[in-house]
Amino acid sequence: MNEVIKAITERRSHRVYLSEQLKEEHLSAILKAGAFAPSGMNAQPWRFTVVQNKELLGKVNAACKKVMLASGIERLIASAKNPDSSAFYAAPALIIVSADKSAVTPVEDCAIALGYMFVAAESLGIGSCWINAVKGALEAPDGKALKSELQIPESFKVYCSGAFGYKSAKPSAAPRKEGIVSILK
Ligand SMILES: Cc1cc2nc3c(=O)[nH]c(=O)nc-3n(C[C@H](O)[C@H](O)[C@H](O)COP(=O)(O)O)c2cc1C
Repeated sequence: MNEVIKAITERRSHRVYLSEQLKEEHLSAILKAGAFAPSGMNAQPWRFTVVQNKELLGKVNAACKKVMLASGIERLIASAKNPDSSAFYAAPALIIVSADKSAVTPVEDCAIALGYMFVAAESLGIGSCWINAVKGALEAPDGKALKSELQIPESFKVYCSGAFGYKSAKPSAAPRKEGIVSILK
């Protein structure tokens, strides 16, 4: 099979990781893939913040858990209450994607950049997972200090985030819906 299609179809959301840090060359290949994503009016409005520092990861985890506790979603509340759980599955690296608030299509730009990074990671044998709570944690009024500690400029908004790490399991694919395509010839 074509290698790109293979990486796209074999990518899974990983929720267990090895603790080993990403090799520099793997991380830079993933970031390069993100930077080569398309963007509205070629604005490339994004900033990719890679968090590998354990203390900072701990602070992000605590902030995410606050958001999860306030979510009203039972599963998230239970997970946040578990002191051993991690909002990003103890992945060794988090990539936070933010964009200039004045960009025309920042939501789309950030999401496609993260998607490119997920596929690039898969092609390198690295697992990944979208982590939704990070956005809420850093954009909440009490997330300001942590956002600044993460060196994300105030004029930038966090739109999405992904956990990255070497795989320690091979999750099976979630079933895909049928009948989602209309081809009009
Ligand atoms: C916008 C978005 C938000 C998501 N948020 C989370 C999340 O917070 N935590 C998580 O474990 N997975 C999250 N996911 C991953 C989905 O659960 C996953 O993509 C879906 O179950 C399909 O599985 P697959 O990625 O293995 O194909 C998110 C995915 C998207 C696109």
